[in-house]
Amino acid sequence: MKYFDVSGFAAPVRHPKKISAAGMGTTSFWSGSNAGLDRCIRTAVTEYGVTVLDTAEMYGGGRCETELGKTVGSLDRESLFIVDKILPSNVQKKVFRRRLEESLKRLKTDYIDLYLLHWRENADLQLMVDEMEAARTDGLISAWGVSNFDVNDMKDLLDCENGRNCFCNQIYYSVYERGTEFDLLPLLKQEHILPMAYSSLGSGFAAHPDIRREHRIMDACREAGIVPEAFMLKFVAEHGVQALFQTSSLQHLRDDLKEVPDRVYAEILPLFEEAFPAPQKAKPLVKM
Ligand SMILES: NC(=O)c1ccc[n+]([C@@H]2O[C@H](COP(=O)([O-])OP(=O)(O)OC[C@H]3O[C@@H](n4cnc5c(N)ncnc54)[C@H](OP(=O)(O)O)[C@@H]3O)[C@@H](O)[C@H]2O)c1
Repeated sequence: MKYFDVSGFAAPVRHPKKISAAGMGTTSFWSGSNAGLDRCIRTAVTEYGVTVLDTAEMYGGGRCETELGKTVGSLDRESLFIVDKILPSNVQKKVFRRRLEESLKRLKTDYIDLYLLHWRENADLQLMVDEMEAARTDGLISAWGVSNFDVNDMKDLLDCENGRNCFCNQIYYSVYERGTEFDLLPLLKQEHILPMAYSSLGSGFAAHPDIRREHRIMDACREAGIVPEAFMLKFVAEHGVQALFQTSSLQHLRDDLKEVPDRVYAEILPLFEEAFPAPQKAKPLVKM
């Protein structure tokens, strides 16, 4: 497993100096494949060194946090980097702290490593920053950030008092959707804010092509003994972006986390570049 050194990012976190380049999401706890996802997360952590686990109060109205809390109960909490998200409608005085405490209870933990504003909507950004900073001071969270923030949203955030303490922006980025390479990723890099990609395998987006119909890519992957999903996770990490993905299948997990040697990556990259080229101009952030 590759790791990102996060000690130099905007707001150094309390515990880890590094986090796994691939992390796992939890939305399937909502749609019902609990046993499969539970097993995959535990295997990913104990056998593959995954440390980043992502959830949100919105997922299943708290159900995914509850299920993740059960899963991590048998794991070494200190080695994990738990990411959780608050809804913009809960960015209100008193409500924010109450919702955070409810999430902590469901997760059965006394701190969240990274707490994100799920999307901007009409949340009061200064109030959000103030609440995040207060929660960090009180030790309830180690770091805070945002999600689904495009360039202009980031600029507004950076203009807030303490806005530069933002640690992360979680966005949609995958080999299928590279618009952020043009402007948002360079801005985040310049501001030392960690980009984290959700849906790194492109799932959930109707427009994403069926990779299994890309015969040259599939042939090259088969020859190299990897699945395209393993390439996709490495592609995201190679662009300096922490990659979240999800599977409830142990076989898929083992395939997805199989190491892709640099030589194999370099050989297959031109095929992906041809099929899914980098953007030539700015494009609005695609959001789920
Ligand atoms: N911040 C936000 O707004 C936001 C939005 C969306 C998601 N997220 C987070 O990001 C996490 C990951 O995103 P995601 O779940 O949307 O999508 P994803 O990781 O792009 O795709 C997950 C899908 O890929 C399939 N898959 C995985 N490996 C495979 C393989 N080797 N072969 C074939 N299929 C494979 C899985 O099915 P199987 O289970 O059958 O393998 C699953 O249906 C979420 O769980 C959530 O925590 C955040």
